Amino acid sequence: MQAIILLGAPGAGKGTLAEGLKTSTDYLHVSTGDMLRAAVKAGRPVGLEAKSYMEKGELVPDAVIMKIVTERIEQDPPSVKYMFDGFPRTLDQASMLDDVLASHGGRITHVFMLDVPRDMLVSRLSGRRVCKNCGAVYHVQNIPPRVAGVCDVCQGPLYQRPDDCEATVLNRLEVFKKQTESLIEYYREKGVLVKIDAGRDRELAKADIVARLGS
Ligand code: AP5
Repeated sequence: MQAIILLGAPGAGKGTLAEGLKTSTDYLHVSTGDMLRAAVKAGRPVGLEAKSYMEKGELVPDAVIMKIVTERIEQDPPSVKYMFDGFPRTLDQASMLDDVLASHGGRITHVFMLDVPRDMLVSRLSGRRVCKNCGAVYHVQNIPPRVAGVCDVCQGPLYQRPDDCEATVLNRLEVFKKQTESLIEYYREKGVLVKIDAGRDRELAKADIVARLGS
């Protein structure tokens, strides 16, 4: 069992890059944000617990996150290669992930730190639109759909994530600084941190990651 991590502030392009990497690599994309949003939509108890934190842009408690990630890992075969997106987000989650992977004979090989200037993060988040049916992600200026408000893939309606409103975006960026940035040093000390300029065109950033995985 191997894992790579896409680490970056809200809007750094973790989900967008993961979508591209899924087709060029054999890593399995696991996004805790997507798992939580699915649980909220389905009205599952874990979703009900997570909803109020997500609406405010706060982190969902570590115990809830570790439960959903551990349940997920238990389902997969030992040969699986994970690409975690938005997880881990605290030092406790990072340490618990190390333990869970080690108990399955696995380890983290690369942590890609997606570096993007702050003003670009805010404009990416405020212009993001997501398909209500299939979850495809667009940006009103950078990556627009062919027809405004309509998904290219399934023709579903596009919506703005509730946590992409300005006040919540600013809080999410603050929460990243306070609770997640310390992971950069944690993984640098372990010798697995790779910094990626993710402020560039997504194809260039993706090619950089693919090259690092191959080397
Ligand atoms: P989550 O869903 O993980 O949100 P996030 O980390 O805030 O990240 P985003 O999904 O907002 O951004 P992204 O980096 O994926 O950017 P994207 O590719 O969409 O988490 C949501 C909430 O769930 C959290 O606030 C928390 O409450 C909870 N949660 C989740 N995991 C948790 C955990 N482990 N612990 C505790 N709580 C947890 O791109 C953004 C926009 O930019 C898009 O419009 C896209 O089209 C555009 N774009 C992307 N790349 C480019 C590019 N290269 N050029 C131009 N535009 C681009």
